[in-house]
Amino acid sequence: MSTAAPTATNALQVTDPRTGKQYSLPIQDGAIRAADLRQIKTGPEDFGLMAYDPAFLNTASCRSKITYIDGDKGVLEYRGYPIDELAEKSTHLEVAYLLLHGELPSKAQLAQWTHDVTYHTIVHANVGKLIEAFRYDAHPMGVLQSAVAALSTFYPDARDIKSPENRRLQMLRLIAKMPTIAAMAFRHRLGLPFVQPNNDLSYTGNFLSMLFRMTEAKYTPNPVIERALDVLFILHADHEQNCSTNAMRAVGSSHTDPFSAVSASIGALYGPLHGGANEEVLRMLAEIGSVKNIPDVIKQVKEGKRLLMGFGHRVYKNFDPRAKIIKKLAYEVFEVTGKNPLLDIAVELEKIALEDEYFVKRKLYPNVDFYSGLIYQALGFPFEMFTVLFAIPRTAGWLSQWEEMLNDGEQKIARPRQLFMGPAHRSYVEMARR
Ligand code: CMC
Repeated sequence: MSTAAPTATNALQVTDPRTGKQYSLPIQDGAIRAADLRQIKTGPEDFGLMAYDPAFLNTASCRSKITYIDGDKGVLEYRGYPIDELAEKSTHLEVAYLLLHGELPSKAQLAQWTHDVTYHTIVHANVGKLIEAFRYDAHPMGVLQSAVAALSTFYPDARDIKSPENRRLQMLRLIAKMPTIAAMAFRHRLGLPFVQPNNDLSYTGNFLSMLFRMTEAKYTPNPVIERALDVLFILHADHEQNCSTNAMRAVGSSHTDPFSAVSASIGALYGPLHGGANEEVLRMLAEIGSVKNIPDVIKQVKEGKRLLMGFGHRVYKNFDPRAKIIKKLAYEVFEVTGKNPLLDIAVELEKIALEDEYFVKRKLYPNVDFYSGLIYQALGFPFEMFTVLFAIPRTAGWLSQWEEMLNDGEQKIARPRQLFMGPAHRSYVEMARR
């Protein structure tokens, strides 16, 4: 970190019109420190100036070396590697390693890492009983969130977050057990017995086995589908300071165990404005039902009566690079599964929206959730499972960000300020006098 004295070129010169006083606020890495504003006061009693930024529109909450996004250019990189190269050449487990360690693994490191994750795929039998206690139609995101939170009671050692070795063990457990729990939540809805992990299969191959295996002695995943799911996992693995990652960092900053923090992130991801959008897109496409109804939907969107789910992004003001890759992947999957009949509606909706002045002016493009649901549905997943399929790979991202946060000497418990707008001090009024 630079300690250069502020000069006219590396500092923001501020004059407070209330007092006429001048301040020099150092600029570093394109930012000023919000805490530097506190020296700007009208008098000794004044708390000092704060930055007001609801929804963090313009606040960097951390320094990070994990994921880079250029929203105007539609660029996404994990540890410097472009997402399209990773989607083409890597695997989800390798990407998880990259996110957590900062570098691609050697052959031996990847073999060890794959072994270590695979070693932890089984869950305690009581986790199965916990899942069985949910209603048959329980939303699998609620089940996943609860089961992951429950893992903290199975692994009380996870509270020792100061030990790097211990943190690593919990990270392996989480990455390994997410598919197992997700598959159990899926099968519970269908009244099917749980399938134990098969550690001879790949990460996604084993997941498919735990989801779909019936009476066959040996489940062999379709390689196209196994790879497609792996690519989808790569695309969803991290996305810098999004809502659920912010939840991971905020909850983790209280030094709670990672199971509790990941459970909070799952809750954040569940919402329809975040990961839950993939489920909402499919509900929307099903409701539209026919290409001829699209103009009506666009009209409703423009009148502010509804959102076009799967469109828009806080950071991307250009094509979401993940959406481009997913659209291409969809056609590959449909070669195996048959075309999803909702595809035509999605393609036409995208075409009309991209030409419409409302969307062009607001730079609203399809995001990662627009096409992913079409693939998930073609693979045989019910709508409710879609966001679970987002949560599994994002666990690697959440944990990488958690680890980075804990190792960042500048971080403390996350605790924003507020602008108090409520009533001034007043005395309690007895009931008889109200
Ligand atoms: N449909 C119609 N109008 C939209 C949409 C949309 N999907 N998204 C944004 N707008 C409009 C919004 O009404 C606003 O218009 P105006 O300037 O006239 O008030 C303008 O575009 C800017 O939108 P915003 O709400 O200020 O943008 P934001 O950065 O706060 O929200 C968002 C980002 C993703 C929550 C939002 O675009 C949205 O709700 N999209 C639909 C849900 C969705 O697809 N979410 C998935 C996001 S990507 C993956 C993930 O995070 O999980």
